[in-house]
Amino acid sequence: MPGVIVVGTQWGDEGKGKIIDLLTTQAKHIVRAQGGNNAGHTIKFDGQEFKLHLIPSGILQSHTTCYIGAGTVIDPKVLIQEIQGIEDRGIRTKNRLWISPAAHIIFPYHCTLDRLLEDKKGERRIGTTGRGIGPCYVDKANRLGIRIGELTDKNLFPRLLSSVLELKNEELQKLYGEDPISYQPLLKEYTSYAETLNQYVAPVESMIHNALANHENTLLEGAQGTFLDGTHGTYPFVTSSNTLAGGIAVGAGVGPSHIHHTIGVIKAYTTRVGNGPLPSEIPEDESFLEHQKAREFGTTTGRKRRIGWFDAMIAKTAVNLNGLDSLALTKLDILDTLDEIKICIGYKIDGIEIHNFPYLADELERVEAIYEVLPGWRSPTTNLTSIEDLPKNALRYLERIQQLCGIPISILSFGPEREKTLLIQDIFENKGVFA
Ligand code: GDP
Ligand code: IMO
Ligand code: MG
Repeated sequence: MPGVIVVGTQWGDEGKGKIIDLLTTQAKHIVRAQGGNNAGHTIKFDGQEFKLHLIPSGILQSHTTCYIGAGTVIDPKVLIQEIQGIEDRGIRTKNRLWISPAAHIIFPYHCTLDRLLEDKKGERRIGTTGRGIGPCYVDKANRLGIRIGELTDKNLFPRLLSSVLELKNEELQKLYGEDPISYQPLLKEYTSYAETLNQYVAPVESMIHNALANHENTLLEGAQGTFLDGTHGTYPFVTSSNTLAGGIAVGAGVGPSHIHHTIGVIKAYTTRVGNGPLPSEIPEDESFLEHQKAREFGTTTGRKRRIGWFDAMIAKTAVNLNGLDSLALTKLDILDTLDEIKICIGYKIDGIEIHNFPYLADELERVEAIYEVLPGWRSPTTNLTSIEDLPKNALRYLERIQQLCGIPISILSFGPEREKTLLIQDIFENKGVFA
């Protein structure tokens, strides 16, 4: 089966965009399956940088067809701006970007409620991206959501919006003392979005099924990361979609038997943006890396990312939760100047080593990381052309990671650009190379 899932293994921002763009040279179909514009995927090539929030990272290579699947939540204003932004830079989207009619729509009340709830939560605030993601998924689960196929139906949409807005305004006014949102201007605004987006709406799921039936290489692009998963992540400090490989398959409408390889993107260290436990966190004043150089700022919100050492407990748990076949390890170059590098190999609670990954955020907050210290390589990895070029201690670091995770590293990345990558294993096994 020619289906490949690319999933984040940590707390997002592992470099999924770069890896997707790279694998796209061999894939014809790319699907974003869950999440919304809380995601920010960065791709760099030929001196250009693209930041994509909703559009699949495969759009930048002209041989592809891209899909935004049913499991996503779409802010139409943001999507239209993003389409316009890449069209202005010469990337064609017409007849090659398709949106599932079943994807849910983010309305302004979702963004307002996201902010209001965060304000009210106090200590329990999550540090969301404020993009209305949680409240939109809440409406979906509550059977109050409105979907793209309904937005583009001129008869249905006004009726749906009117009934949902009545409930939402009650919530805004009675619970939060906010002003209500007026129906007519909102209807007018979203009707104009529908006119723009209508040409992109298509039966995405059947198109993907046909691609797979024709043995055409298909990539499912994960957003966020394993520990932001609403079910298995560091709840409640998570996002509201299922970010694991299984959730990605559901969001794309693809059965697990169609997936022949699941690749986990993992940084050579760990980062997290937003609140919640980060067991191998390094206090900012002791941090080994300069945020600016490592570019550890959120792609979507610009917030500084928190930084920790590579955490093998996290990595091994991600291998199991996603059924990973291999790892794409990114940002090795960021460790180039260090004398010593730590790997978290276990956790202690109250001085006693624990063997199962703690599922309660409270418990994970209390763990003490057990470290192993490896010597650094103190030489640049940014110009590698083969594995043989790796400094001895860098190879040793990577081999230790493979050993701890129990799966191979299939892709190694040592710079943001496409060419700063070594493809160690051919994920698609040479089936249909398109570029
Ligand atoms: P995503 O959300 O998983 O797609 O990751 P982001 O794009 O939010 O963040 C990853 C950042 O690291 C981006 O600025 C990338 O350009 C950059 N990046 C990706 N791989 C590498 C790498 O191997 N080395 C360096 N230095 N930067 C990288
Ligand atoms: P990509 O795809 C990193 C985090 C937010 C917050 C939590 C919930 O670029 O890896 P939300 O707005 O989703 O309700 O916020 O999830 N978060 C991300 N962190 N990368 C992302 O996406 C993220 N998407 C959401 O910071 O802690
Ligand atoms: Mg990101």
